[in-house]
Amino acid sequence: MDCFVVNGGATLKGQVRAAGSKNASLPLLAASLLLEGESVYERVPRLADVATLLQLLESLGAESQKSDNGYTLSCPQEGPTEAPYDVVRRMRASVCVLGPLLARRGHAKVSLPGGCVLGDRPIDLHLKGLSALGADIRIVHGSVEASAPSGGLRGARVYLASTHGSSVLGTANVLMAACLARGTTVIEAAAMEPEIASLAHFLNRCGAQIEGIGSHRLVVDGVAELRGTTVSVPADRIEAGTLLLAGAATCGDVRVDACEGGQLTALLDLFERSGVPFEEGVKSEPGRPAGATAQNQDCGHWIRVLPWERPPQVLDVTTRPFPGFPTDLQAQWLAFCTVGRGLAMVSESVYPDRFMHVPELNRLGAGIRRQGNTALVVGPVALSGAPVLASDLRASAALVIAGLIASGKTTVRRVYHLDRGYDGLDRKLCQLGGSLVRQKDPEKP
Ligand code: EPU
Repeated sequence: MDCFVVNGGATLKGQVRAAGSKNASLPLLAASLLLEGESVYERVPRLADVATLLQLLESLGAESQKSDNGYTLSCPQEGPTEAPYDVVRRMRASVCVLGPLLARRGHAKVSLPGGCVLGDRPIDLHLKGLSALGADIRIVHGSVEASAPSGGLRGARVYLASTHGSSVLGTANVLMAACLARGTTVIEAAAMEPEIASLAHFLNRCGAQIEGIGSHRLVVDGVAELRGTTVSVPADRIEAGTLLLAGAATCGDVRVDACEGGQLTALLDLFERSGVPFEEGVKSEPGRPAGATAQNQDCGHWIRVLPWERPPQVLDVTTRPFPGFPTDLQAQWLAFCTVGRGLAMVSESVYPDRFMHVPELNRLGAGIRRQGNTALVVGPVALSGAPVLASDLRASAALVIAGLIASGKTTVRRVYHLDRGYDGLDRKLCQLGGSLVRQKDPEKP
């Protein structure tokens, strides 16, 4: 098992590029189960979660071929329909094969993912949406067993909000299933996350008829067949935000390419109000298609944080679904707040229990107090390096940022969490001048 040894104190400086997005690539890859013929996926990030999903798709009969920067996938109409516990327990996002399997093969058996370190994570909205499309759904021996009626799924009106907002993968599942349902489906309270928009654009290019992309209301006219095509996975806005926060926390000068402000407005608004200078721009390169957007990693957009003159004024923030402040940057924001001035209340409205990083940040001296779904931090505090344990993907990133700020040596253990969702974060931080070494954990070789 690997750990990171971080020597704090360096000021990050330089230019790096965001990799393909984890949370966009997983539903895009799962959509291959819906498609006739081959699909070519480019700029797929090298992540443990992507490897797990590919393994699952292969177990479902997909043929995959690796290329330099991605995969070609083809999935026959007939094939197995079961996603076993062994895979789903390793990666909750495996649940996004449910909708495509049901729509194209008429049946799906997917193990229930259960809770995780982020708290209780039900899939009731996925099931509600699919049953509105006519699926017969039963929970048997810890698995969801879903069957389409004999004439196939049929369009319906579906309302997908939970008390914590809409569901990203729930929207992906219902959207994918609705593409092959008979008639029109209206998904109300659909997730507006850019990852859903990139899935919907891809499906339309495969022959689907989806309107309202990027809004809370998706209208899908079902079609008989979808055909595979080529897709380039969009850049990872959460990785970009993590790198910008690492830059800002070290009072650095960091530019992240392939990163568009429109996908990180809530973070940029906090930077603006707290006094972290930043710039945004678009590279002008001959041959770039006019109007290219962050849907593509070639978009040319970049964001750069610049050194601050006096410590930033930290601010209260509550995580919200897009375009609100992302829960996937909450832990990193909390780490950043330790260098700022004043008191910040950081509240979670998406996953009220997503605070496993707090005790570990406190081992570095952060002095964060938690009450319910809110963490209170008063900055500035002088962090000092210590051994810490990563509990999940974004918690790992927060501990790495804290290690970069802390004096002395911080050893971040269990970085396999980080490898699930960041493609080469350690390499990029080193490229920016951070002192960070990946090594075998002597305590857990
Ligand atoms: N929820 C329900 N019922 C459902 C589904 C969700 O009540 O059927 C609740 C959840 O418990 C949570 C909220 O709704 O409180 C939002 O959950 P959502 O379904 O949107 O989460 P998800 O789709 O399972 C994706 C990302 C997460 C990210 C969330 C929120 C992927 C693979 N995962 O999860 O990413 O935090 O959306 O934006 O896309 C991460 O990358 O670190 C990560 C956890």
